[in-house]
Amino acid sequence: MNIEQLGYIGFNSTDPAAFTNYATTALGMQEVSLGTGRPSFRIDSYEQRVIVESSDKNGAAYIGWQLADDAALQAAAAEVQATGVAVEQATTEELEVRRVADMVHFLDPAGHRVELYRGAGRTNEAFNSPRGIPGFVAEDLGLGHAVLSTRNLPETQAFYTGILGFKVSDYMIDAPFTATFLHCNPRHHSLAFADGNFFNIPNVMHHFMLEIEDEDEVGRQWDHVQHEGVPVAMNIGRHTNDHMFSFYVASPVGVLTEFGAGGRLIDDSTWEVWQMPGPDIWGHKHGH
Ligand SMILES: [Fe+2]
Repeated sequence: MNIEQLGYIGFNSTDPAAFTNYATTALGMQEVSLGTGRPSFRIDSYEQRVIVESSDKNGAAYIGWQLADDAALQAAAAEVQATGVAVEQATTEELEVRRVADMVHFLDPAGHRVELYRGAGRTNEAFNSPRGIPGFVAEDLGLGHAVLSTRNLPETQAFYTGILGFKVSDYMIDAPFTATFLHCNPRHHSLAFADGNFFNIPNVMHHFMLEIEDEDEVGRQWDHVQHEGVPVAMNIGRHTNDHMFSFYVASPVGVLTEFGAGGRLIDDSTWEVWQMPGPDIWGHKHGH
């Protein structure tokens, strides 16, 4: 299976207006009106990258992964189905909400809802950030990355690498927690799984990452979120594996957002999987 990129994330929210304020004011994403009946947000030429579902609970609802065309999507659905996982076809309404031509969905071994799609809507309209951010590092690299927790890391990792075709970038063991980072394109990781037993949390999305071009712009946003009183979860720092220079803020739906720049890319012809000594070169201390 050849997944091209992380296409979109849907969040459940008890207060979509609060998430909208967070997405635009704290993160600088552009709110768009697509007639889908939900707030949604863009960061690049894709019509939307984040979708908010009004709900009685908070947290990640679904993650969409892009496949090239109908043949690739049908083959991917059959591969997953062949493992005994129940694969369901999207309803017409679900396709309208995602603004994609076709989609199937299923649960991964950790219980996260996975959506495979093709034919996402794009736009020629210039991206216009309410925070004046010139542009996000997205497009063919996908929207960013998502880090999920799982209580069964070996099984979950085997599913994503063996069935969905992700490649391991690197991993860490008890340093201080156990995690595996996975890529599907040159972005260092589009997905990672952390051992949920360490955190004593069930299968949830810990954070999603948005990347911009300029490290000074990350610093400018860092000043801004502190000035605005956006809850900081982790202070500014640089990660060991993808070299991301970033900080973490807390969204109103209980999922953190990593906001960074400077992520390195992976060339599969030369990359060697390694065991990381820990998550950070410096910084990323837990916030106030
Ligand atoms: Fe991250």
